[in-house]
Amino acid sequence: MRSPDEVNAQQPAPGASTHGALAMEQQLAALEPWLARSLTVQVPRGVSPQYFAVLVPSDNAGTAAQVELGRKLYFDPRLSRDGTVACATCHDVSRGFADRRNTSEGIGDKVGRRNAPTTLNAFFFETQFWDGRAQTLEDQAKLPITNPIEMGQPDGEAAVAAIAGDASYQQAFQAAYGRPPNFDDLARAIASFERTLVFLDAPFDRFLGGDANAISADAKAGWALFLGKARCTGCHQISSASPIGTDNRFHNIGVSARHQDFEALATKAYAALSQDASQEKVDELALQTDLSELGRFVVTRNRSDIGAFKTSQLRNVGVTAPYMHDGSLATLWDVMDHYNKGGEANPYLDGGMEPLALSEREIDQLVAFLFTLTDDRLKAPNDSELARQKHLAGGKRAFRDEAVANRKVLLFEKRAQADK
Ligand code: HEC
Ligand code: HEC
Repeated sequence: MRSPDEVNAQQPAPGASTHGALAMEQQLAALEPWLARSLTVQVPRGVSPQYFAVLVPSDNAGTAAQVELGRKLYFDPRLSRDGTVACATCHDVSRGFADRRNTSEGIGDKVGRRNAPTTLNAFFFETQFWDGRAQTLEDQAKLPITNPIEMGQPDGEAAVAAIAGDASYQQAFQAAYGRPPNFDDLARAIASFERTLVFLDAPFDRFLGGDANAISADAKAGWALFLGKARCTGCHQISSASPIGTDNRFHNIGVSARHQDFEALATKAYAALSQDASQEKVDELALQTDLSELGRFVVTRNRSDIGAFKTSQLRNVGVTAPYMHDGSLATLWDVMDHYNKGGEANPYLDGGMEPLALSEREIDQLVAFLFTLTDDRLKAPNDSELARQKHLAGGKRAFRDEAVANRKVLLFEKRAQADK
């Protein structure tokens, strides 16, 4: 098996600042036409106000001053111990608000165990992180700042101290929360900014709204398969009550099972957590140790959660490769190959995972559908990703079950002969 460092050995993008991220000023400039200044947190179109109220804590409504402060903090590498890593380093505007790496790289080039999900629409989730170890965005935002391999601050006070001398921050905190800079308000402001990252205007939505030409015939066929034969909606419901396509639950779909001995890992996790089961400890186990692959189990210690991860959102999935909690699947074709096999067998595999017997054409249709879920503001990167992934999928498909594929060809030939 390759080490995370080898897997991540990629060339940084041209014009990169640190860790391959686009320079912060350029990210802010790219954001400008998409999100106006002086935004407040607002109910997104098509989402009921009652549902939205559940997603916004009563003590953090998201005024324009709060959102503005959060935007400033999100792009500020001074929040990290060595001044090189901001939230936007790993949740980069130019990379689908993720980092295009298998697993993330933080201060001192330290590589973690998990893939960075996008911050777009993340506020819709009932829990944050692949294992749901944070309840809210406010709660979530503090953890990377103090995690030793992400932003590496010894504690929240150190992060506040790094910016508190800056007069513009003193003013911004006063305007937003009526207090001098402090760690709780810092996290609140970042969360408010993230609640403005509503990216739900996709061709698929226009199609649902009645514009039959908004998506291709292949994508329409893919949508029908998604609801039917491919049984994706068992976990990825998409509706006005669930706009991002997640059931907010945790399932073992056999991604980790490819290379883990769950029993030995679970024993190790019990031992580690009996000493210390704090949120910081769980964060460390998730990002820095081989226990990461246990997923939700590390949070709940229920055996049924072994190897289970949160059902991903499917919004903007065209621009957030690579996929899954460990970034092990490079393209959406690989994702489909994984599901077509019924996932990787293991004792904790979810009952909703079964071989699907999809043809190559049906796989192409499902992928075409998935690419229609990207917001129009990200159309250009979505189109180039589609071309890039198609090219990759034209080569060797690492996760395709050749036996299944060949058997189907055989069946097809038999049927073709019988039809003659
Ligand atoms: C070193 C890279 C890195 C930095 C810096 C970083 N993140 Fe993340 N982020 C990740 C990774 C990796 C995960 C997934 C970890 C996990 O689930 O165990 C994640 C998860 C998240 C999630 C959860 C999304 C979901 O779908 O569950 C949010 C929200 C988020 N980060 C926001 C932030 C914010 C806000 C900051 C700055 C305070 C930040 N991140 C800094 C890498 C990073
Ligand atoms: C049994 C529940 C379940 C079913 C059924 C299911 N998924 Fe998933 N899906 C998940 C979970 C859980 C994850 C994250 C797993 C992980 O990282 O280990 C996921 C991840 C994904 C991802 C990766 C997203 C990302 O950003 O990394 C895509 C794409 C996806 N699913 C599409 C589909 C499609 C298409 C189908 C139908 C063929 C499907 N899923 C069926 C639960 C399910």
